[in-house]
Amino acid sequence: MADPTPDANRGAWNSKLGFILAASGSAIGLGNIVFFASNAYQYGGGAFYLPYFIALFVMGIPIMILEFTVGTMTGRSIPLALGKLAGKKGEFVGWWSLASALTITMYYITILGWALAMLVGSFGSLFEPGATAPFEPFLEPSEGVNSQVWFFNMIATWWPLVAVSVIWALTAILLWKGTETIEKGVRVFVPLMWVFMIGLVIHGLTLPGGTDGVAYLFTPNLDGITDIQVWQGAFAQMFFSLSLGLGTMVAYASYLPRDADNVNNSLLVSFLNCGFEYIAGIAIFAILFVYALNPAGGTLSLSFFVIPQGIAGFSELPLLVKSFGVFFFFLLVIAGLTSAVSLVEGMASALIDKLGISRARALALVMTPGVAGSLTFALPFIVDPALSGDGTLGFTLFDLVDHWAFRYSLITVGLLECLLLGWVLGAEKIRAAVNEHSKFKLPAFFDWMIKLIIPAILGFVLIGTLYEDI
Ligand code: PFF
Repeated sequence: MADPTPDANRGAWNSKLGFILAASGSAIGLGNIVFFASNAYQYGGGAFYLPYFIALFVMGIPIMILEFTVGTMTGRSIPLALGKLAGKKGEFVGWWSLASALTITMYYITILGWALAMLVGSFGSLFEPGATAPFEPFLEPSEGVNSQVWFFNMIATWWPLVAVSVIWALTAILLWKGTETIEKGVRVFVPLMWVFMIGLVIHGLTLPGGTDGVAYLFTPNLDGITDIQVWQGAFAQMFFSLSLGLGTMVAYASYLPRDADNVNNSLLVSFLNCGFEYIAGIAIFAILFVYALNPAGGTLSLSFFVIPQGIAGFSELPLLVKSFGVFFFFLLVIAGLTSAVSLVEGMASALIDKLGISRARALALVMTPGVAGSLTFALPFIVDPALSGDGTLGFTLFDLVDHWAFRYSLITVGLLECLLLGWVLGAEKIRAAVNEHSKFKLPAFFDWMIKLIIPAILGFVLIGTLYEDI
């Protein structure tokens, strides 16, 4: 069933390091920097930790091994790979996962566009109150909340549309020659994001009171552990953070040699990702506590109001602190870019595999709806100006898509992936393929994780979400 030789025309990583950088660059993104901190706060700091840790071992690493193996066994991206291994139903699940990937990419790139616009804005007074805007500003932000004023002034200008187009253009450039250009990009961006993040940690921890935030994040809070929502949040966040269920890890692994050590690669990528996430958590919680900021408003207000408020300092803080704001937005842009690239590669490679078209054509096919979607999300009236007293942003369409894609579609794909590979192909075949080339041999228990335990957990998360929604 497995192809004996890799298909050289599809592309191949130059080295194992190139693959690890690309896959960890995919995993490390907005999810690690802001979604994690926002979830950890929402679910009670230390209470989030243990479920998240368990999610890594019980679900994250096994599904990553599964996705890498699907890629290396077939040398194809997700629809054809699942089609080869589990028939027509498998191919259907593959296309479904790419439909979610397209939706997520649209708004993921919009957020990156906003971060880029804020980055440019941090150098000057572009979005300061009173800056002329082609659209009517939506609201009068409350006095003294500078980053909010900036954000609302920014989205009322043309800047987001320009910035979103720039991010898409950069994504296309990085994908132009497939693995060759991706590898060039990640060799620069991935080390750079670590350096920036470590800089932010040092900055946060050396501020007076910075360590209090870290204590809040790390002190175990056993009360929350009985709360089902905490577990649901932890599993959904883990799925997104490790870039699972959207075809990217399958596509990236399809460019590996057939004899790659998938256990070793999965452990490396997962630990790099979670290591980065914990470090990011330290930096962000330190900053939140130092400035007594409340991240209750959700992910986007955390990214654009709360953290910038603390570190960017905007107008009234000294230049050095302001420069950390520049760092923060730059970090968001580069970390997000390597994730966006992987999302688009998953889709483009599927079209190349299926239709036999050129890379340029495949990119055009993905980018046409992708760019249109991202620009739509960037239009000012998509962002609901209903700003509540606690600084919560209402993102109507945004929220809806995010909730659908993040909470339902991703998890459903993961569930179906496990069931199809576990029962239709047979989990033992996957395990045999993994064990043939990996130093660490998976025990027979792995089969039951794929067939039963992980589907049961994901099913439970889905039912729980449905129950909360209705
Ligand atoms: N893992 C990325 C993050 O944490 O921001 C987001 C992501 C990228 C999810 C690629 C899924 C994916 F396929």
